[in-house]
Amino acid sequence: MHDLKSIPTKAYVVESKGAPFVLQDILLDEIQSHEVLVEILYTGLCHTDIVVQHGGMPVGGYPAILGHEGVGVVRKIGLGVSNQGLLPGDIVILSFHTCQQCRYCQEGNLGGCTRMTEINFTKTGRDGLEMNSPASLPDGKPVYAQFFGQSSLSKLMIVPERSVVKTELRLEDDLSCLPPLSCGYLTGAGTVFNALQPKPADKVAVVGMGAVGFAALMAARALGVEQVLAIDIVDAKLQMATSLGASHTINSSAFTDINEGIRSIFPDGVDMIVEATGIAILAETSVKALAHGGTLALVGVLPPDADIKINGLDVLISCKKIIGVIEGSSNPHELIPRLVELYKQGKFPVDKLSKVYPAEQLDQALSDLKTGKVIKPVLSWESVVASE
Ligand SMILES: NC(=O)c1ccc[n+]([C@@H]2O[C@H](COP(=O)([O-])OP(=O)(O)OC[C@H]3O[C@@H](n4cnc5c(N)ncnc54)[C@H](O)[C@@H]3O)[C@@H](O)[C@H]2O)c1
Ligand SMILES: [Zn+2]
Ligand SMILES: [Zn+2]
Repeated sequence: MHDLKSIPTKAYVVESKGAPFVLQDILLDEIQSHEVLVEILYTGLCHTDIVVQHGGMPVGGYPAILGHEGVGVVRKIGLGVSNQGLLPGDIVILSFHTCQQCRYCQEGNLGGCTRMTEINFTKTGRDGLEMNSPASLPDGKPVYAQFFGQSSLSKLMIVPERSVVKTELRLEDDLSCLPPLSCGYLTGAGTVFNALQPKPADKVAVVGMGAVGFAALMAARALGVEQVLAIDIVDAKLQMATSLGASHTINSSAFTDINEGIRSIFPDGVDMIVEATGIAILAETSVKALAHGGTLALVGVLPPDADIKINGLDVLISCKKIIGVIEGSSNPHELIPRLVELYKQGKFPVDKLSKVYPAEQLDQALSDLKTGKVIKPVLSWESVVASE
């Protein structure tokens, strides 16, 4: 039996490190003062969910509810929530949670928050006890939630207000392609808009045409960059990149290394590279493809034991820069509405990138992501009914 205040719903729960995602009954608490109850409509699947599921990144505890690209409808608002004039029925895009106090948060680079890992991965958004989670199993066992400020692999979720980005969108709009604005698209676009800031004459290479790489490509094009080289090992993704504005493409499997590939198109190298694969050797060799004064943005998450060897002298005498970018160095409350606006104007055509699966088909969606059949799988929660 659960107490009368708790709300039954269904979520994907990972029982222990490495265990599969299982759709099961859970209970949610009453919302606290600075929280919002959101009915999730769509959840994008991102690599980080799989990495965390397998223990490659820390999480506050198990069992856990992951999912960090959620779009939903506000159902209930905590008494202390004052921001953005939030109302029940508003369509919101969920994003990560931040401390609001560190130097990076104060400067508006929320992705750089010094407490990013703690707040989004190892603790729930609630203060106090270690596993002070709004979710539990029907037998009362707490379930780690508010992962990345959301845990949106759930039909309903209680999230911290800082994760909630209000939009002017309505239920009639096509919302299914928007969840990755939470993370993947925010990251790729923010890396270009905030960290790299290319000029139209710059040559930009994007390594890895997943959700992050495509968002970087579209952002560069939105800034008027004419020469964008898209690189992947899947030809269908390269064709899609051409249709979305890449001036050049290469299939990197045809070259000895990424430097040779990039220089086959641009013999003098490129001004900027977005590394969006997380493959250490690609990060290492792409530095060699930078032109004098060029910048490499490391966005792909490298394995914890990655050992990258960079020729420091080359970096020094060629004035090259290597920067790590988290969540596009962005403030989701500014960048997400800007990307929604660009999408409405047809300048950020994310509707071409995703495929919707009923929430029950998560395994199929993950398998299609892994094999490169889809760029961004999105789950729809429409068919899932919470048991009473
Ligand atoms: N820094 C951040 O804040 C942040 C945020 C989101 C995602 N990420 C990371 O960014 C990376 C990209 O995320 P995604 O969702 O786009 O992943 P994804 O798997 O969809 O995309 C990776 C792409 O790289 C391609 N690829 C694989 N091997 C390659 C090779 N040898 N040469 C060229 N391309 C190759 C794949 O075909 C795929 O298209 C991941 O590592 C993810 O964990 C980082
Ligand atoms: Zn901070
Ligand atoms: Zn992500």
